[in-house]
Amino acid sequence: MSDQAHILLLGAAIFLVAFLIWWLIFETEGAYLGRRVVVALYDLYAARYDRIKQFDENADITLISQPLLDRIAPVNDPLMLDVATGTARLPLIMARNARFQGHVIGLDASRRMLAKAREKIGAGRFESYVSLLHHDAGELPFADGGFDVVTCLEALEFMPRPAETLAEMIRALRPGGLLLTTIRIDTRWMPDRTWSEERMRTELEALGMREIKVMIWQEDYSQVWAYKRIPENSQ
Ligand SMILES: C[S@@+](CC[C@H](N)C(=O)[O-])C[C@H]1O[C@@H](n2cnc3c(N)ncnc32)[C@H](O)[C@@H]1O
Repeated sequence: MSDQAHILLLGAAIFLVAFLIWWLIFETEGAYLGRRVVVALYDLYAARYDRIKQFDENADITLISQPLLDRIAPVNDPLMLDVATGTARLPLIMARNARFQGHVIGLDASRRMLAKAREKIGAGRFESYVSLLHHDAGELPFADGGFDVVTCLEALEFMPRPAETLAEMIRALRPGGLLLTTIRIDTRWMPDRTWSEERMRTELEALGMREIKVMIWQEDYSQVWAYKRIPENSQ
């Protein structure tokens, strides 16, 4: 083999390795390397997470907390669980909504994301509306059917077994309770982790959910809303 061919082969190999590292660490945020890597990466990003994401809180109130309260009306004091709460994006937009009189438990496996969340909740004096829990989403430490609302935004695809996490979330939801989660619009980059709308509908129906609505929300994500079916003999 000529020197030129060697250089070309070496270049291609370096490119492939660099691409693989970029895909595993940055594009998929460690999702294919296991839960520990995902959590370690979030621990690492925690201080910069809000700056990177640049959430628009007013838009989140309009597109998340208002419709959520509309969908569970007349209940305005729901007990809520936010799975993979991160820096408390969802608990804070609930607490800042004047209609909300309930309580949100924000659960996350990254201690540093939770530390950021705690800072923000303390600064806004929202402690009566929000509590935080360091725990894995794969096995929720709650009895069946205790929550009026369960949410999980932009996170299901980072779980080692998204279908099992979804089943756990629905187990914790009371019959008639409301689920809000998200799916990525572009499903090409995370095979088997990001689900199509059809796959999400099939999973939810199999788990006893009804009135499933999928709505385009942001550039990257659609919102998925659904209610937990009430068993006929209890109606
Ligand atoms: C993209 S962030 C989303 C955070 C928040 N829901 C939001 O919308 O800003 C993903 C979050 O999932 C959390 N996470 C990843 N794997 C987890 C697991 N197995 N159990 C609990 N949390 C997990 C990460 O620590 C991180 O805070």
